[in-house]
Formats: sequence, C-alpha cells, structure tokens
Amino acid sequence: MSAPPWKIKVVEPVTLRPQPERRQALEAAGYNTFLLRSDDVFVDLLTDSGTSALSQEQRAAMELGDEAYAGSRSFFRLEGAVQEAYGYRHVIPTHQGRGAEHLLAKLLVEPGFLVPSNLYFTTSREHVELLGGVWIDVSIPEASDPRSLHPFKGNVDLVALEHVLAAAAPERVAFVRVEACLNMAGGQPFSLANLEGVRELTLAHGVPLVLDATRISENALFVKEREAGFADVELPELIHRIADLSDAAVFSSKKDHFVPIGGVLAIDDDDLAERARELVVIYEGFPHYGGIAGHDMEALAQGIRESADEAIVKHYVSQSAYLGGLLLERGIPIVEPVGAHAVFLDAKRFLPHVPQEEFPAQALAAALYLAGGVRSMERGIVSGQHGDEPYDGLELVRLTIPRRVYTQEHLAYVADVVTDVFERRGQIPGLRMTYEPEHLRFFQARFEARGAFLEPVEAVAVAEP
Ligand SMILES: Cc1ncc(COP(=O)(O)O)c(C=O)c1O
Repeated sequence: MSAPPWKIKVVEPVTLRPQPERRQALEAAGYNTFLLRSDDVFVDLLTDSGTSALSQEQRAAMELGDEAYAGSRSFFRLEGAVQEAYGYRHVIPTHQGRGAEHLLAKLLVEPGFLVPSNLYFTTSREHVELLGGVWIDVSIPEASDPRSLHPFKGNVDLVALEHVLAAAAPERVAFVRVEACLNMAGGQPFSLANLEGVRELTLAHGVPLVLDATRISENALFVKEREAGFADVELPELIHRIADLSDAAVFSSKKDHFVPIGGVLAIDDDDLAERARELVVIYEGFPHYGGIAGHDMEALAQGIRESADEAIVKHYVSQSAYLGGLLLERGIPIVEPVGAHAVFLDAKRFLPHVPQEEFPAQALAAALYLAGGVRSMERGIVSGQHGDEPYDGLELVRLTIPRRVYTQEHLAYVADVVTDVFERRGQIPGLRMTYEPEHLRFFQARFEARGAFLEPVEAVAVAEP
C-alpha cells in the first residue's frame, strides 16, 4: 500500500463495544447493518458515500460560502470547477446523486422506454422504473462472475447493446447509461476503448449517452494502469476524455468529490438543460443551489479539483488492494480483481451452506459486525431482487473504504475480523425477512436468524485494540 499523501489533523474517537452489546445492537437493528447506530460501530465500512474526510482546503473554502438564494458566487465557482474538470456546458447541483437521477429520469423516461446499462444501480434503476421505464442489463457476462480476472468488468457488451438499439425505435430508448467503476459488480472499471464503442453506437442510433460518473476518477486511474497507450496521460486529461464521450452525466459527489452531501447533473444540450432547470425548482431548489448550501458548493468545487489528483486517487485504490490482498492470502473468497472503492466478499462461496433465499450476504454482514464491530453492506439478493422474480445473481458483502479516513491498521484489523468469521462460518445460519419495504428494501428491511447465530467465544479471536 502506498503511503497516504495526507496526514491527520482532526480525529473522531471510536470504540469497540463488548460482544454482548454488539449482539443486542444487531438484534435491535433486525440484522440490517443500515439500522445500526454509528456509536455502536467500530470500523464503519458501510459505504464510501458522504463518509470522506474533508481537506483543509475544503474546510477553508467553506468559509467563503455565499448563501444567496439566487446568483450565489459559490454556484459560479462550482459551475467553473465542473466545466474545467469534465467539460459539460450546463451544471445543475442537486442534493445528492439520486436527485440528479430523478431529474434525468423525469426528463427522458416515459412508460415503456428502455434504459440499457452496464448492470443496475439500486437508485438509478428505481427512478427509471417508477416512471414506467424498462432497465436492460447490457454488461459483459464477466461482470457477474466474481472469479473472472477480466481487467474491465465494467465494460458494456457492445453486441448486446447493438441488438437492443437495433430492435427498439431510437425514440423508445430513453438513454444508454454507463457507470464508471461499476458498483454492483465490485467497483469494476470500463476501458476507454469500450466507452468509445458505446459512443459510436449511441451516435449511430441517435440515443443520448449518459455517464454515471460518480467514480470517474478511479475509473480513469484503472485505464491509465491497465489499458495500453495511456500510461503517460495525466489523470485530469483522462478524466476529461472519458467525460467527453458522453452527452450528460450524473454524479453522486459524496464519493469522488469528498463531500458529505451533494450531487450534480451535468448536461451538454441547451434545451435539455433548460428543461432540467424547470424541474429543479420543483424538486431540489433554485438552480443556483439545487438542494445544497453555498458552503457545500464551495467544498464540492474544491473536492472536484482534489478528485483529479493522481496521488490521492492512487492511494485510495491501493487501500482496497491492500485489504483484498490480505484476504486472498488467507484463502477468503472475494471478487477479483479488487475494484476501486471496496473489497467485495463472495457470500456464495463464503457461506455455501446458506441458500440464496436465506440471504447469505445479509447474514455475513451481520456476522462481521457481531464478531468485531465492522459494519459492511449487503449487495446481493436483498439489494438486487426485483419483486418476486427469481434471483440467482451476485451475492456480495461490500467492505467499502471511506476516502482519507482509515489507516492501514484499521484495514489489518478488518482482515482479522473477516478471517475469524471465515473460520467460524459454520455457525452462521440463514436469515428470515420479517419486514420488507416496498422500495429499495435493502435500506430498511428487518430479519431474524434461523438458528443460533455465531456463538459467543470465550476470548475474542481477533486482537481487540
Ligand atoms: C454509482 C452510483 N450512482 C448513484 C448513486 C446515488 O447517489 P446518492 O447516494 O448520492 O443519492 C450511488 C450511491 O451510492 C452510486 O454508487
């Protein structure tokens, strides 16, 4: 792991609760890690969303926040930062990524319209479907194979996409969506060559290409490191080249842009942008703040600049690689290659005795918390199943690394907790769902264990700090 290009100035205390208290907290949370209180968590790898450490430059910039309702200086600084980094002509701030997804779907999706995409993301798909759109997975098959070492598992299957575009009248395709560092496949990048292929097809069929650019910086770094011909291209230039291939982008700025809240809808087309600004006043706020404060826009503008800093991005990706490497050395099944923002445990191989209808990834995430206060997230049947449709897709637990927050020691501790749970995996039964919300059920569903759940151990097997 490379040494971090930052040092720590402000710290936040964390404590590891005793095991009986963790069990109580887990039961009170219905075995759903989203429902734990953060005070009960020791190492929080639930998400990289809104959990980064701000830089001193971001904090200083926040002092300059212009909180004017309209015409805020901070908006124009944000607009300039987005235009410079990515080149889109129109910049619409939103409260977070799903705010941008909502506007985009309202602009382009009508009942029966198709949205071909490299795999789904939970909120992205939900907004399309709420408007009657039809989500179509056109990712390459390797995306769904945790053992495939394909370097660009975020690629679109160009043949499949061509079929979809040729079969549908162009006006029935709302847009083609391509996500950078494909979250649900394990944070896997697309190659620039593949994105160029998508671009050609969308131009040929007259369909907009929309990037989910939430993790564009790490995707650009993987292109630089893995795709021939880009080793000498500067990261900011590569990021810009990726964005140049699309017509519009949604960003959840809570990831690459290091802010606790904020998102962006970026658009090239003048008419579409005008319609988006009409919608933003209904759903988010005035177009000059779109649901976030002036000081948030200042932190975001500065965060955008830092997100193209190769040393920062490289160190971040090396943290996932370090944790993944430790787990692989110990024979623990994870998604390979290790992706951008997380290490994903393969729950099907980790808990082969738990059938997928009994939520193995949910159970494994619960066990990691119980064993060592480590919070992770289910990314399997609970997140992915569609109504009552049968589901046999990926069954993963995401150990997500917040940016600039945890040290190598924290990650080594997490590896010890995972190892301890792996050694005692026979004591983890499946779960029964006791409450199922209608939308995005993974956030708030509740479960109970189908049997004795990870017996208490006399001495905790991992070294307590
Ligand atoms: C790829 C991707 N797109 C969109 C979103 C939604 O963004 P937000 O959580 O800011 O609403 C996320 C959030 O995790 C994401 O990972």
